[in-house]
Amino acid sequence: KHCFSRGADGYLYCEGVRVEDAMVLRNFAAYREALQGLRSVVGYAVKANNNLPVLRLLRELGCGAVLVSGNELRLALQAGFDPTRCIFNGNGKTFEDLKLAAESGVFVNVDSEFDLEDIIRAARATGKKVPVLLRINPDVDPQVHPYVATGNKTSKFGIRNEKLQWFLDSIKSYSNDIKLVGVHCHLGSTITKVDIFKDAATLMVNYVDEIRAQGFELEYLNIGGGLGIDYHHTDAILPTPMDLINTVRELVLSRDLTLIIEPGRSLIANTCCFVNRVTGVKSNGTKNFIVVDGSMAELIRPCLYGAYQGADFLGKDRELPTPDEGADFLGKDRELPTPDEGAGLVVHDAGAYCMSMASTYNTKLMPPEYTIQ
Ligand code: LLP
Repeated sequence: KHCFSRGADGYLYCEGVRVEDAMVLRNFAAYREALQGLRSVVGYAVKANNNLPVLRLLRELGCGAVLVSGNELRLALQAGFDPTRCIFNGNGKTFEDLKLAAESGVFVNVDSEFDLEDIIRAARATGKKVPVLLRINPDVDPQVHPYVATGNKTSKFGIRNEKLQWFLDSIKSYSNDIKLVGVHCHLGSTITKVDIFKDAATLMVNYVDEIRAQGFELEYLNIGGGLGIDYHHTDAILPTPMDLINTVRELVLSRDLTLIIEPGRSLIANTCCFVNRVTGVKSNGTKNFIVVDGSMAELIRPCLYGAYQGADFLGKDRELPTPDEGADFLGKDRELPTPDEGAGLVVHDAGAYCMSMASTYNTKLMPPEYTIQ
């Protein structure tokens, strides 16, 4: 006995869900369709969710991977990702991790002078020539929570325009050790206005022109990740991957580039929920509390960013009215019916930055993860 069956419509079903309709497949298909007609790499941002079966699935669908630590790189290799479709990114990469990156043949983003120096050292230590992208800080405001904005001028990421020439000269003089293959920018996360990507891509293709004019054979334009999702379930008209890609399509084609995008949240967030058990219900004065066994240890986004994630009870007849707002709490000031002790409460859209940011705070154990495949 297993959970797969062929439906009357001829499609494969898994526990009542048409496999083709599984959310993660639909999320990926939205990018694949949007990218038709372009040479492209969808680099899944492993930081969003590093669950191995999830990684394997995304790799099978055709994703590359965006990595920010040696362990993410190890996981990606274990999941079978093609190193030439992986990018090692970050502004504090360690020398040990850079050696692993050089050894495995992934692309490496150059973030600073010291980073470049370390990448060259890693290339020499391993005897490999490292393909690199220059991470440029385009100074475009993504209009998101300041903690997830990464491409404005006060951000710690990437290099600024005035230093570009220094980097190009240095890269040229180490052409036995590294090869510049592209430029990268990442504006921020939870972005809901795609014009911002167009602004950034416009600046970036100007850099491409300038860099190519100096004899570099640039192939890749990486515009990062960051597309937001509808956490409020209001069916708000948010931009889709198609909207995003359409704003940059002509620019990419006009320079004959391969486009890299790095989605995390928009591929995986809405495919998972965080399951809690109600421990009890209490009130302090006029304020009522539903106490659950989950906490900021497992899902820190509401506390860290004031982020909103919907909640629902598992049992029937327990639908929650649309809540109005969400620092150890999972949601705040929500109108909820009184649950029974032991009832299941789920927090939605927990596929991204939930488990991957979970901690053992309060000496709790990491929660188990279940995947339906
Ligand atoms: N590429 C780079 C270079 C990144 O830094 C990130 C995310 C991504 C891609 C993927 O972004 P996404 O498509 O998932 O928005 N902890 C925060 C999110 C921080 C994201 C940091 N970088 C949260 O819980 O919302």
